Formats: sequence, structure tokens, C-alpha cells
Amino acid sequence: MEDLDKRAARDLAESKYAVALTGAGMSTESEIPDFRGPKGIWTTNKEAEAKAYQRYELFLNNPRAYWEEMLGFQRGHGTFYEQIRQAEPNRGHYALAELEALGILKCVITQNIDGLHKKAGSKRVLEYHGSVHVLRCISCGSRFAREEVSLDALPPRCQCGVALKYDVVHFKEPIPSNVMEEAEKKVSRCDLMLICGTSAVVYPFANLPRMARFPSGRLIPGVDVMGHRTIVKVIEVNTDPTQLTHEGISDYLIQGKTGEVLPGICEILHHSL
Ligand code: APR
Repeated sequence: MEDLDKRAARDLAESKYAVALTGAGMSTESEIPDFRGPKGIWTTNKEAEAKAYQRYELFLNNPRAYWEEMLGFQRGHGTFYEQIRQAEPNRGHYALAELEALGILKCVITQNIDGLHKKAGSKRVLEYHGSVHVLRCISCGSRFAREEVSLDALPPRCQCGVALKYDVVHFKEPIPSNVMEEAEKKVSRCDLMLICGTSAVVYPFANLPRMARFPSGRLIPGVDVMGHRTIVKVIEVNTDPTQLTHEGISDYLIQGKTGEVLPGICEILHHSL
């Protein structure tokens, strides 16, 4: 039985348009807890999860209260954002940046709001759920670096006068259309999808692996809308099997930590390239 790291390295080397999809599991080795793992934030703090489901509505109804919560004035979830703004990338993030530098990985589409892929040197990163390092105007779409906006007066306001929010996409909030379109364009082009550290249960992001597996939208694997055969290899790296494993969306799962498996694959590639 060929070991899967070698198989993944070979598949990546043979790929023409590989993309990576990542989730919170990428950052647990950077001391940021995931959400639904055994030590996950939602698993261990149901109150925080309930508040997270109310957050977008809170912003729409009372942007000042939203900011007070986000800045941890009240016993909310706020300080978590400050914690992840201080975090540093781990070997998994650097390995994906290396795959990009080798010309193999065409982009990273991440659910993570921590900005660690960019901090590790990845250039082509789509932050599908936004970033804690950015504030966004939901009216004109303008984005501002967090540091550049004064929070002396709450809520901070956009030049267009509308209250700003974190760029982070909260539950029940629509994904900015430009980000969604860009992600789907990349996925429709890919011939290899490397899925790292996500339970793949949150939609619409969780649609992306299914789009790769069933490009025609009908449950016929590997056939596109024109009826042409398109073989997309879907590889998972996760400490545990996920929904994608169970549904057979992924071709194979490399069970392990992203911070160990991904550098290992880079090592093999370096010796074979
Ligand atoms: N290496 C590999 N996999 C890991 C590691 C690791 N070091 N640590 C945890 N995992 C796995 C867990 O087993 C789990 O399958 O990563 C997955 C993390 O899943 P979730 O906690 O559900 O995180 P994610 O899929 O990113 O959540 C999606 O949900 O809460 C919302 O907006 C939030 O973007 C987030 C979205």
C-alpha cells in the first residue's frame, strides 16, 4: 500500500491547477482553538455559540452594542479576536506558502479569519469568511485595515457614513459576492483540491468540495456541465474523518496534523522535483 504522503506529493506534482481549502484545524497548532473539535470553542462554550448566531443581527440593530461586545466590554466573545490577531503561523501555513512558491498551489481559499496564511507568505489567499485584521462597510463594500480606524467613537463609520463592522462574516451574514464568485471560479478550474483542517459542515463554503466532485451540479462525479470528463483529485488532511470522507467526496484522507503532514509532503516534493 503506497503511503499517502508520497501519493499526495505525486498528485500535486502532476496537477495543473491545484487549490487548497482550509479551516480552523490549520490554526490549532498556532494555539487558536477550532470550533467543533473536542476542545473546540462551540463544543466547550455553548453561550459563545449562541451569541455568535446573534451577532450579525446585533450589528444591524445596534452597531454600538455590537462593537462593545466585540471589544469585550461585556463578557462576550470579543477578546478572542485580539488573541488571534497576535497569533503566528505554524509549519502547516508555511508548507502551503511553499507549495505556492513552487508554482504548484494556485490559491488558498480559507474559512479562517486569522490572516495566518498571508502572514506565512501565501500571496493568493481568498478569505471566504473575512478577516479580523480588516473592517468592512456592508453598504459600499469599502474595507479598512483595523489599525487605521479609530475606535474612540463607537461605532466607527465608513466615509459613506454607514457603521463599519469587522470584515468577519458572521453566521446568517451573506458572503461578499465578489469573494464567493472568485472562489467558485477557482474551484471550477481546479484539477486537484487539497482540503486541510475543516469539518466541512458550514455552508456555502462546504459546497466547494462538492462542486469539485460534481462539476455538472448533478451527482455524476467527474463530468462537467458540457458532459466532458473532468477528473478532480480531492485530498483531505485532517486529524479525523469528516463528512467529506464519509460521503466519498474526497479520494483519500491523510489522517494527521496539518502542521506535520503538509511539511512532510513538501519534503517529498523537494526530493522528487
Ligand atoms: N490538523 C488537522 N486537522 C485538525 C487539526 C490539526 N492540527 N486540529 C483540528 N483539526 C480538525 C478537526 O478534527 C475538525 O475536523 O479540523 C476540523 C476543524 O473543524 P471546525 O472546528 O468545524 O472548523 P471549520 O471547519 O473551519 O469551521 C467552519 O464554522 O464556526 C464557523 O465561521 C466559523 O469558519 C468557521 C466555520
